[in-house]
Amino acid sequence: ASIDRAVEVLTGRRIAVLTGAGVSTDSGIPDYRGKGAPTRTPMTAQQFLASAEARRRYWVGSHLGWKVFAAAEPNDGHRALADLEAAGVANGVVTQNVDGLHVRAGSGRVVELHGTMRRVGCLHCGQVFDRRDLAERVEADNPWITLPENVELGPDGDVTPASADGFIVPACSVCGGMLKPDVVFFGEYIPVEKFREAEQLVHTSEALVIAGSSLVVNSGIRLVERARRRRLPVVIINRGETRADRRAAVKIDGGTTDVLRAFAQRLPGLL
Ligand code: OAD
Ligand code: ZN
Repeated sequence: ASIDRAVEVLTGRRIAVLTGAGVSTDSGIPDYRGKGAPTRTPMTAQQFLASAEARRRYWVGSHLGWKVFAAAEPNDGHRALADLEAAGVANGVVTQNVDGLHVRAGSGRVVELHGTMRRVGCLHCGQVFDRRDLAERVEADNPWITLPENVELGPDGDVTPASADGFIVPACSVCGGMLKPDVVFFGEYIPVEKFREAEQLVHTSEALVIAGSSLVVNSGIRLVERARRRRLPVVIINRGETRADRRAAVKIDGGTTDVLRAFAQRLPGLL
């Protein structure tokens, strides 16, 4: 019934979509704050920069997690969003996820607010590397590295390594500088231009749909505020509470995969 109401509210409007970790749980990637989420404390950028030991631990976990991420597949929810964009209903997707699944599902305009696991940057010279190529180097330098059994995968694609002793951290092949995956670390700021791009997408749309985010993180809630200030209706699809439930025109407490699929079936005919 709330799906019907949402369809009514969204009919004839170009929509901006903001997604969070919830859209990827059906692809086997855990979220941060949902039921069964791992209770780890993510490493901060300060800790990463401060010690070689921290970087060793980070890189072992990030490398192993990348292998799991690379094997994950987009689900029907990601595909529905790509379909909605192709049909001219969705303007694009702003995502807080770093798993790259929207891009792989075929969405064209994707603003990755928290960066992406697919790229690694040199903090010294700025050179950007493809993660796949880098992962091959990591494997060659650390032939002993294997995925432990029963891994607890983190939402940012890292695992907690049993040990990081002896791990050789990759360095920039151009200048030897320190490398860091192109993701926003816990407690780090989103680049200003990136947030502008997200804002722009909301400002050029006529409704905002939130899918699979608790909206605990400020950038997400700020986009809701932007939408509200412009009197755009906000539709939320999320299992469990979000920080903007009271500001939503419709809240659907259901699975994003099913609901987005229903939107993709029903909205294009109504434009
Ligand atoms: P959260 O884990 O905070 O929220 C995900 C929400 O999705 C939870 O409320 C889940 O109950 C819900 N959920 C899970 N699977 C679902 C499904 N299949 N259908 C519907 N709902 C589902 O994740 P985010 O809001 O994305 O930032 O977290 C935002 C940011 O917090 C992350 O990007 C990360 C973290 O700090 C950085 O790392 C910078
Ligand atoms: Zn470099």
